[in-house]
Amino acid sequence: MNGASGRMGYRQHLVRSILAIRDEGGFELADGTKVTVRPLLVGRSEAKLAELAQRHGIEDYTTDLDAALADPKWEIYADFLVTKARATALRKAIAAGKTIYTEKPTAESLEEAIELAQLAKDAGVKAGVVHDKLYLPGLQKAKRLIDSGFFGEILSVRGEFGYWVFEGDWQPAQRPSWNYRVEDGGGIIVDMYPHWNYVLENLFGKVNTVYTQASIHIPNRWDENGEHYDTTAEDAAYGVFELEGGAIAQINSSWTTRVNRDELVEFHIDGTLGSAVVGLFGARIQPRNATPKPVWNPDLEDTIDYDATWQQVPNNEVFLNGFRQQWQEFLESYVTGTDYPFDLLAGARGMQLAQAGLESNTTGAKVTLDEIVLK
Ligand SMILES: NC(=O)c1ccc[n+]([C@@H]2O[C@H](COP(=O)([O-])OP(=O)(O)OC[C@H]3O[C@@H](n4cnc5c(N)ncnc54)[C@H](O)[C@@H]3O)[C@@H](O)[C@H]2O)c1
Repeated sequence: MNGASGRMGYRQHLVRSILAIRDEGGFELADGTKVTVRPLLVGRSEAKLAELAQRHGIEDYTTDLDAALADPKWEIYADFLVTKARATALRKAIAAGKTIYTEKPTAESLEEAIELAQLAKDAGVKAGVVHDKLYLPGLQKAKRLIDSGFFGEILSVRGEFGYWVFEGDWQPAQRPSWNYRVEDGGGIIVDMYPHWNYVLENLFGKVNTVYTQASIHIPNRWDENGEHYDTTAEDAAYGVFELEGGAIAQINSSWTTRVNRDELVEFHIDGTLGSAVVGLFGARIQPRNATPKPVWNPDLEDTIDYDATWQQVPNNEVFLNGFRQQWQEFLESYVTGTDYPFDLLAGARGMQLAQAGLESNTTGAKVTLDEIVLK
């Protein structure tokens, strides 16, 4: 586990996923087989790793990535590094023949992301890329609604993602400062468009075109040491996506908006037979036959309580932490030798959407996404 001391590496991958599985003595496959895990922490600071290992009763840690990759005892290389450091580490792990599990984006450029997918294919290396948003309870409920035929034909999807990230002067910022420097792999498009790509293609249709207007709304920020820096990466992106099948998606991604929604991300899905608003956890629906009939009249106060006309979708199942759920599915696919759909090619498609979004922002044009085919 390389980068296990980072924000995602520590909380979601180590604590919530791998250690949770370890501490429960593994998880069971359908045939009753138990899959257990044993983490090896890899990082640059021996002291940090030792402290982490001590805190969580982990026996193995090292600052020597090459030695770890050369040791056949460790079967899977997992990468949670800053985006900038990822491609180099993945190349090494593929060359060592390791199975790969990695955070997104898989690289900083589309070219590099495709190269990594090709290298893994050529080496016969299995790979998994984090698709965590698909496992959010709210989006799993959206999938359930789609599978049940609730929407009829889906017409449009409107996504709002974002919250205010403090500038860092009078209150510390709640995201790392590299996120706001393009030279360090930052920017909300490279961060969020890979997510939007797999959410859209797995729920609503493959993305055919994208138009994006982005902005650096906050030009001055202060880093982890309280030092001022100039923001060089966009902190908001306003995107329009045409999907295979004809639906239109609009997604706003912003670190410069104050939340006035139930959740930090929400998707409003309109279909011919019904609509839904889904978030991280919740989902509300309004079917065609319970749709109120508003009439536009600026002279009269509207008497309809629109919020009250929506119905909650029940959980009906226990949702595991999304990162853990995906880890378990990947590990199951690894031990049973089945194909894993969310691979480095899926990761490259995510990067393709990010790159197309950046291009659209620069040129002002709508950009078409051609299918990526590996050799
Ligand atoms: N799936 C998600 O929802 C999600 C959310 C946030 C971030 N991410 C992705 O996860 C990755 C990590 O993001 P984070 O927010 O945890 O960042 P972070 O800065 O908190 O952690 C990064 C880790 O990389 C290590 N690192 C930093 N520079 C390095 C270098 N030059 N060489 C080797 N190691 C280095 C750090 O020590 C740390 O362990 C990013 O690629 C980011 O895009 C994914």
